[in-house]
Amino acid sequence: MQRTKVKDLLKGAEVGKEVLLKGWVRTKRGNKYVSFIAVNDGSTINNLQVVADAEKFSEEALKDVTTGAAIAVTGELVASQGKGQAFEIQATSIEVLGKADPETYPLQKKAHSLEFLREIAHLRFRTNTFGAVFRVRNSLAFAVHRFFNEKGFVYMHTPIITASDAEGAGEMFRVTTLDPINPPLAENGQVNYEEDFFGKATNLTVSGQLEGELAAMAFSDIYTFGPTFRAENSNTTRHLAEFWMIEPEMAFYDLKMNADLAEEFIKYIIRYALEHNREDIEFLGQRLVEEDKSKPQNERQEMTLLEKLEFVVNNDFERVTYTEAIDILLNSNHYKKKKFQYEVSWGIDLQSEHERYLVEKHFKKPVIVTDYPKDIKAFYMRLNDDGKTVAAMDILAPGIGEIVGGSQREERIDILVERMKGVGIHEEDLWWYLDTRRFGGCPHAGFGLGFERMVQFVTGMGNIRDVIPFPRTPQNAEF
Ligand code: 4AD
Ligand code: MG
Repeated sequence: MQRTKVKDLLKGAEVGKEVLLKGWVRTKRGNKYVSFIAVNDGSTINNLQVVADAEKFSEEALKDVTTGAAIAVTGELVASQGKGQAFEIQATSIEVLGKADPETYPLQKKAHSLEFLREIAHLRFRTNTFGAVFRVRNSLAFAVHRFFNEKGFVYMHTPIITASDAEGAGEMFRVTTLDPINPPLAENGQVNYEEDFFGKATNLTVSGQLEGELAAMAFSDIYTFGPTFRAENSNTTRHLAEFWMIEPEMAFYDLKMNADLAEEFIKYIIRYALEHNREDIEFLGQRLVEEDKSKPQNERQEMTLLEKLEFVVNNDFERVTYTEAIDILLNSNHYKKKKFQYEVSWGIDLQSEHERYLVEKHFKKPVIVTDYPKDIKAFYMRLNDDGKTVAAMDILAPGIGEIVGGSQREERIDILVERMKGVGIHEEDLWWYLDTRRFGGCPHAGFGLGFERMVQFVTGMGNIRDVIPFPRTPQNAEF
């Protein structure tokens, strides 16, 4: 007999028929006459209730049907008499496929803290919250591919091991097979990477952009979607050492077209999740409402999660230049009352408190900030005519801060080489990148969306460690 998933059983089409269900026991309750077993198989936030009459199932037969056990149930799908569910299975057989000792199974009925669940990340998928989070994550990933596929973009797999530092920030993980105790040394006493596996020093990539640009110079429109790695020692709720990034790169695009695409893209994937994961998002929104109850009134969310997402999908993002953003900050009461911890002046890198003021207090919606000072941005961003700023864009989201970083790229080889020199990147190391400017170069642009930050935005989860299955952060690589 073929197994049917809970999600499909709950549609009720098979009512009156014999069905086979396999899944994990969430709870078992009952009395002398009957037991009610809530079963979940991950296909939906909802459980399916299995009814086991005592006439058919002795206490002994159900003794291993405990929270966490894997079971297979056959029986008739019937309309439910009870409240809380439309359909249930009247069981004729229940087989325990895998026991879960109630004495030692860590997930019990009571609500566990997110911190505790992080320590048992191998089991947390089985909770309502993480079930919802990872189904939403899945939908968003699928929507990413669907969006770009519909637009004729080519999905490009850029390398994970690389010898270049795309962002020039130097926060990379070294990849080596050299003996850590006795590495071969060069004449100058430093480690001789010529003897390493690749014949040169290599790292895990921080971004697929540079290779993405090469492909855009042939396919016009490409995107990458893969893991990226940053060895920055940031212990925040927004940073991972291993995170996934989506990086589209488009030939013949300027900054405005780039920003338009990013806005359309973000709205599209949110809309997809709203359509396909409504129950999950409603559940996660309810979680936040409960969480808010323990907070002072002025720290509570003004909108529910659903309202926030619908608002974002249905309204234009705000667009300001960096220079305008600095003016807004300088003219704010917040600034005048000296409430910012970090200084505000033209030329600073916006701190998280500044970004949050702009999106949460001032505009109350996502904001696209463009044209940043060149000295705080990467070497590949196109120099504006003012000679001081570059055609950069960051998208800031309420509750998250920076969610997208992107730019129009510098296509003029002399200016690009000059910028590289300024930050100490050798022309020889990026000869291949410079070749695209030598042979058929053209104006082009692209951006990177931090996938986990996007998942945080849609699920409302406060900590980025709770939206990736197994987070990698400083001092932590369990599982
Ligand atoms: O702003 P970033 O560094 O931009 C780039 O890497 C460009 N090469 C993208 C491009 O133009 N193709 O990173 C892009 C986004 C950030 O806006 C943020 O959402 C996310 O990646 N991000 C992180 N997410 C989680 N943990 C980290 N440590 C992150 N660092 C960046
Ligand atoms: Mg950035």
